[in-house]
Amino acid sequence: MCAIWLVDADMSEVLKIDNVHKYFGKFAANNGVSFSLKEGGIYLLVGPNGCGKSTLVNCISGIYVPEVGNIYYRDADITSEDMYKIARRGLVRTFQIASPFLSLTTLENMLVALPDNAGENIALSLFKPTWIDSEISAVRRATELLKVLGLRHVWNKPANTLSGGELKLLEIGRALMSGAETILLDEPVGSIDPVLCHQIFSHVLRLRDELGITFLVIEHRLEVAAQYADHVFAMDRGMLVTEGTAEEVFEDERVIKAYLGE
Ligand SMILES: Nc1ncnc2c1ncn2[C@@H]1O[C@H](COP(=O)(O)OP(=O)(O)O)[C@@H](O)[C@H]1O
Ligand SMILES: [Mg+2]
Repeated sequence: MCAIWLVDADMSEVLKIDNVHKYFGKFAANNGVSFSLKEGGIYLLVGPNGCGKSTLVNCISGIYVPEVGNIYYRDADITSEDMYKIARRGLVRTFQIASPFLSLTTLENMLVALPDNAGENIALSLFKPTWIDSEISAVRRATELLKVLGLRHVWNKPANTLSGGELKLLEIGRALMSGAETILLDEPVGSIDPVLCHQIFSHVLRLRDELGITFLVIEHRLEVAAQYADHVFAMDRGMLVTEGTAEEVFEDERVIKAYLGE
């Protein structure tokens, strides 16, 4: 069941990576990477271990500043911008969102992810009878997101009782509560468990379809997540070697060679 979202020319570009170079000493971990993402697409960035994927995501999310090249988010040049400012624009890497508080419930975890600590008061106010409009609308938003994420049935359960897949989904939910519109997922499927993978990605598809969220998923294993991606970028040795549909990319000799280490 491969849901293909047609990434056409009319869709607006949300993220543009333009000739990014990132050096560690003289070693170029990213050596002139360029590509762009259109709104509402699910993109997969693959490549063998050490090819520079995380370095690139660190450049995009503001952890590193590339020595050469530029990164644009919705027409703003964010190349040297602070991490928190980039996140405030709606470009969020999930691990930037603090890990869930394991003793808080799923819903409370969603509410404390609101920017500027507003959520902290709202989470506390769950125990008070005096709600104000903004608190009610935050609870409504959290409840709607939990529904799309398939977490509504665990809204009142402490996070420490959730499964690994549910915790990943909660992490995405917390990013969305913080205002994320474009989400960077760096190696989101820690284990090879195909059920967990399907659970996460079927909800990623729903978030894209129902809320128009754009995803860039980083993964070193070729087979994981490929069936969910609209478009795949493949890196090797700091450079983009090819891009296209999953089939096109995975049949490309340069990609096969990269994985075989030739
Ligand atoms: N902070 C760092 N200092 C020095 N070298 C680094 C640093 N981070 C990554 N590298 C090197 O850059 C290359 C790319 O790493 P990374 O971006 O983590 O690759 P990937 O995420 O694709 O596995 C690797 O050779 C790695 O050893
Ligand atoms: Mg990595």
